[in-house]
Amino acid sequence: MKRLAVLISGGGSNLQSIIDSSKDGILKNIAEVAVVISSNPDAFGLQRAKTANIKNFSLDCKKMQREEYDKQMLDILKECKADLICMAGYMKKLPDIIVSEYKKKILNIHPALLPKFGGKGMYGHFVHEAVVKAKEKKSGATVHFADENYDTGEIIIQESVNIEENDTADIVAAKVLKIEHKIYPEAIKKVIENHK
Ligand code: GAR
Repeated sequence: MKRLAVLISGGGSNLQSIIDSSKDGILKNIAEVAVVISSNPDAFGLQRAKTANIKNFSLDCKKMQREEYDKQMLDILKECKADLICMAGYMKKLPDIIVSEYKKKILNIHPALLPKFGGKGMYGHFVHEAVVKAKEKKSGATVHFADENYDTGEIIIQESVNIEENDTADIVAAKVLKIEHKIYPEAIKKVIENHK
């Protein structure tokens, strides 16, 4: 059973899909969420962790020096013996000390078809607004390995959705989120099975 550390900053619906599939879905007996770490003390995802009785920490990035923040995160990951780190709506870049320690063990989900619509500033709603503005016919979600840059690591799974002519950014976001909830557990399973 692999131990997952899930990093969040907000609502945590992807966290919920990982918890659900580890309890009664494709990750059952394969992976468990050992710890949830939030960069935002008000993130609803922390509530989800508490409800599921999962150890959780909030590291308030606004109140801490970056070095201290990074060190505390690394300490928690080690203490909880995390095998894989899953960034799920986590809006910060991971520091080199963590990326180098967990090479090919850090996953991220991005709400677009990378390499399109990725990079600094391309997160959450900004992504869907840019996609609609560019009149794309398709968008989707990508789970990839995280490296020291934004959204550039090797792609693990990607799945697309069609965009209709009158779709707003909100509509595209909802379609993509549905795909995210399906492919994140699938990607985690794939990575674990490939590491066996
Ligand atoms: C998700 O759509 C995720 O792909 C996106 O934030 C949302 C978080 O939702 N992440 C990024 O934009 C990272 N670049 P959630 O908190 O409900 O899982």
